[in-house]
Amino acid sequence: MARSPITGKTAVYGIVGDPVAHSLSPLMHAAFAEAVGADLVYVPFHVREAHFAAALAGLPALGVCGVNVTVPHKERAHALAQELTPEAAGIGAVNTLHFVDGRVLGHNTDAAGFSLALDDTGLDWRGRTALVIGAGGAARAILWALGASGATAIHLANRTLARAEALAAAFPQFPIHPLPLDRDHLTPLLHEVGLVVNTSSRGLHGEGHPELELARLPKTGIICDIVYNPISTPLLAAANSMGLRTVDGLGMLLHQGAASFRLWTGQQPPVAAVKEKLEQWLA
Ligand code: ATR
Repeated sequence: MARSPITGKTAVYGIVGDPVAHSLSPLMHAAFAEAVGADLVYVPFHVREAHFAAALAGLPALGVCGVNVTVPHKERAHALAQELTPEAAGIGAVNTLHFVDGRVLGHNTDAAGFSLALDDTGLDWRGRTALVIGAGGAARAILWALGASGATAIHLANRTLARAEALAAAFPQFPIHPLPLDRDHLTPLLHEVGLVVNTSSRGLHGEGHPELELARLPKTGIICDIVYNPISTPLLAAANSMGLRTVDGLGMLLHQGAASFRLWTGQQPPVAAVKEKLEQWLA
């Protein structure tokens, strides 16, 4: 993609993570900037956990305007931000930092990104009984979005039960029920589950979810995977072949990114057009 030359006036943004080399965010933000004609660059910063605090002090000192924060730094960014939006405070994780007048502002656009991606499908996803798989960092914003959208019950299944229990305890305001990720515990619940969200890293390397008997879900069930590379995970492919509605992780990536871009620049990027570009890159 051709971009205008960097000048002394070009604004610098980026993403801080470990690993970060696989991230689609630099391509996505370059496409956003090109589409709206913004003079900015978006740089991948590979920052190890031990160096995060030093990086966070150095970025605004260098005049960087804002960064996205990804694995494993979102909770640390939450702890170190000087001001938090109510959503970032409630979720307990920050994915967007904005450096304004010497202050470090912490936002979370993941929950809104997830909700907007589901809204885009036109499916009636709110107020259902949900099953969330995985209780790592990525689950926090999903639980928040589901709780805020009025999910009647949220079953939280994780390989390590203690992590699901700890996460449920962190959100006492939502009806979260932790359980182990195994067939015996999942099977009796499935007939009432209207929305399944995989937040675990299962699916990144071609693994499926053998303990999840999709045939037991209601026919109106929606299956969502926040893994976006590959776009169609084995879970989504299996659900598609059974005629269930599926939502891939690309929409959430785009909407959380667009929300960060809007916070930083005040401009709304064209999500649908950039989605097409990302699909071509991932194909
Ligand atoms: P992230 O911040 O991306 O969520 P994480 O905190 O390491 O990353 O969490 C990864 C999640 O995927 C966890 O819920 C993890 O389960 P454990 O808590 O038992 O470790 C889950 N996960 C990873 N690999 C998995 C696998 N092969 N089967 C089931 N769950 C898996």
